[in-house]
Amino acid sequence: MPAPFAICYLNGEFLPLQEARISPLDRGFLFADSVYEVLPVFAGRPFRFAEHFKRLDRSLREIRVAPPLSHGEWLKLLNELVARNRASHAYIYVQVTRGMEFGRNHAFPANVKPTIFAMAAPLPELTDDIRAHGLSAVTVEDFRWGRCDIKTTALLANILMKQAAADADAQEAIIVRDGYALEGSSSSVFVVRNGVAITPPNDHRVLPGTTRDATLEMAQGHFVTQVRAIPQQELFDAEEIWIASATRDVLPITRLNGRAVGAGKPGPVWRRMAELFDAERRRLANTPAL
Ligand code: PDD
Repeated sequence: MPAPFAICYLNGEFLPLQEARISPLDRGFLFADSVYEVLPVFAGRPFRFAEHFKRLDRSLREIRVAPPLSHGEWLKLLNELVARNRASHAYIYVQVTRGMEFGRNHAFPANVKPTIFAMAAPLPELTDDIRAHGLSAVTVEDFRWGRCDIKTTALLANILMKQAAADADAQEAIIVRDGYALEGSSSSVFVVRNGVAITPPNDHRVLPGTTRDATLEMAQGHFVTQVRAIPQQELFDAEEIWIASATRDVLPITRLNGRAVGAGKPGPVWRRMAELFDAERRRLANTPAL
């Protein structure tokens, strides 16, 4: 199947995705010694560019890789990728690995050159069916490592969790640790109680979500939000549950572990939030390109 967006970027070059090659000695391949970002492009504009690239810089700092590009250089790269692919409604995936060396050494070598990869891909569609009926989720006990705040490509635990959800005909696994709901396998989580949208604080157990932050900002003046720990019982008793991610905005979870969440359909606070997201996208389309 041809890639919908055929041109990617690899180590300084734009080239067909089908022809892109990296060494099997790349530490990203051998050790998942690498970090990444995913950001949507709406109306040709990378959404919350600064927030995503601040988070990338933080991930790189935490794994002790010097930022290979400045924000200005990243933006130029992204704009060119969007233009070459006509990817005005898409998402962009960016990955930086520590690079390639001869041999296989756990401790990292000095003077290795990072591998930089970027591609565009289609955004999953927010269908009428999802808007009308919502999605299903299951809960899973956390068995990831202790630095979930780093956006690393070492995602095997998340993959197994997502597959556990898929095996149960659900679309997301909500991770619980020590009796508290933390986040989805590839999303942040919100619960609504008494009309208040609640999301856990950022710490080493969760990825600091950009869509979560956008949601908290956009909600201001429209409904009340709270950042605090969510005991799992509050998840089970919630009026609404949402998942938030760069590729899916904020989506309602209407079934959890096979049982209805609240009224079993997307709730009023989610509908308000979805309108606010749509309005933000329309506003963005009328602003100058970055
Ligand atoms: N995942 N938590 C986890 C574990 C995630 O993987 C993601 C995003 C989020 C939400 O972060 P943001 O709103 O910045 O996308 C939270 C991306 C989309 C992915 O891995 O494809």
